[in-house]
Amino acid sequence: MKHEQVLLDSDIVLDYLLERRELNPLWETLPLYLIQHGIPYCLAAHQLVIIQSVYERESGQKSFLAHPETRQAWDRFVGAAVPLKTPAPIDWNHPLARHDLADYLTESAARAADSIIITRNQDFTVLSERCLSPEKFLAEHDPDAQPPVPFLDLKAPHIELRAELEAAQDRVINSGWLILGQEVAAFEREFAAYCEAEHCIGVGNGLEALHLILRAFGIGAGHEVIVPSNTYIATWLAVTQAGATPIPVEPDERTYNLDPARIEAAITPRTKAILPVHLYGQPADMDPINAIAARHGLKVIEDAAQAHGARYKGRRTGGLGHAAGFSFYPGKNLGALGDGGAVVTNDSQLADTLRVLRNYGSRVKYHNEVQGYNSRLDELQAAFLREKLKRLDDWNARRQAIAARYLAHLSPLPPGEGLGVRAS
Ligand SMILES: Cc1ncc(COP(=O)(O)O)c(C=O)c1O
Repeated sequence: MKHEQVLLDSDIVLDYLLERRELNPLWETLPLYLIQHGIPYCLAAHQLVIIQSVYERESGQKSFLAHPETRQAWDRFVGAAVPLKTPAPIDWNHPLARHDLADYLTESAARAADSIIITRNQDFTVLSERCLSPEKFLAEHDPDAQPPVPFLDLKAPHIELRAELEAAQDRVINSGWLILGQEVAAFEREFAAYCEAEHCIGVGNGLEALHLILRAFGIGAGHEVIVPSNTYIATWLAVTQAGATPIPVEPDERTYNLDPARIEAAITPRTKAILPVHLYGQPADMDPINAIAARHGLKVIEDAAQAHGARYKGRRTGGLGHAAGFSFYPGKNLGALGDGGAVVTNDSQLADTLRVLRNYGSRVKYHNEVQGYNSRLDELQAAFLREKLKRLDDWNARRQAIAARYLAHLSPLPPGEGLGVRAS
């Protein structure tokens, strides 16, 4: 069995640092096994203090981190551990809390991280189902086992970013400001800069981002909006919720995206906008779409819900039309830990209207200028998104490398039986 993440009890770490062969025959084997197989192992904050004080007591070495030799062992083993928070809530009636507070805290940290614990402590093993002895762990753990690859693994990126996400959550809790505060303002600046555009307005989700753009442009009853026939339902719903009519246009068979060659035939005197979707992260062919829109005096609204960071002719999606709607639904390339969305635009007037529309039509509390909506990106989600945005380019590159492997190793379909989709 393969364990996603293990937490090492302090005794295991001390066995290694103090070379306690007689107590633990696997004192060196287990740490080396973890390091050599790249198995992530964690330590919670309270353990570091315990490890330090026991080490100093048993070795008689005060300030041991100042000694180059012990420092090396510490950096190599303890320094490479994934740091975990020791959760704050304490249930004093829990059997472990009554038995041994340190074990209780270790178990709480493991529970919060959904991790097993490797320990030599038999009492601990009896009181917690999460515990495994080093022998049992090594016997059970097969590094060559191939676990099934989940279609979408939302745990892995958050485990990788746990420390940053927890720090982000603390910033919000400590600020006491939960709606439209510094985190949303900072994320809006950072995401606009990332998209190489002037403005970003954080909203409730991707559907509302598109809907609010249409509303802000005054598109509604009696108007038509050109949409791809092949897209997620939200593209169409944004149009119908605004009171306008979606006019479907068939895709280009090479890209699955809106085919510019078929757009003009669908334009009528009621058409107000074209809503291309950058499906699966592949930008729609924006130059001809923008040229058609300019000829007919139409707005171009990008549905960029699936295309954070994608580039069209060197330019980032989000700044390729009059405005763009993004989704931060958890499964997206840039996903929140809940719902979220944003509009990106270079149009200052539109940005101003959207800031009013998303917030009950109000600029000043209790002064409601227009019939607005409650559609705001939460401070907490903005704080998480700021951390994840720093990784977006790396993660997109990783997705492309994986896609390239699939494309290289899957046999091609016989001619005429598939669409020739590109990897990026
Ligand atoms: C193409 C497209 N447009 C719009 C949306 C709507 O985003 P949300 O789910 O955040 O409302 C999504 C995703 O769900 C999408 O894939």
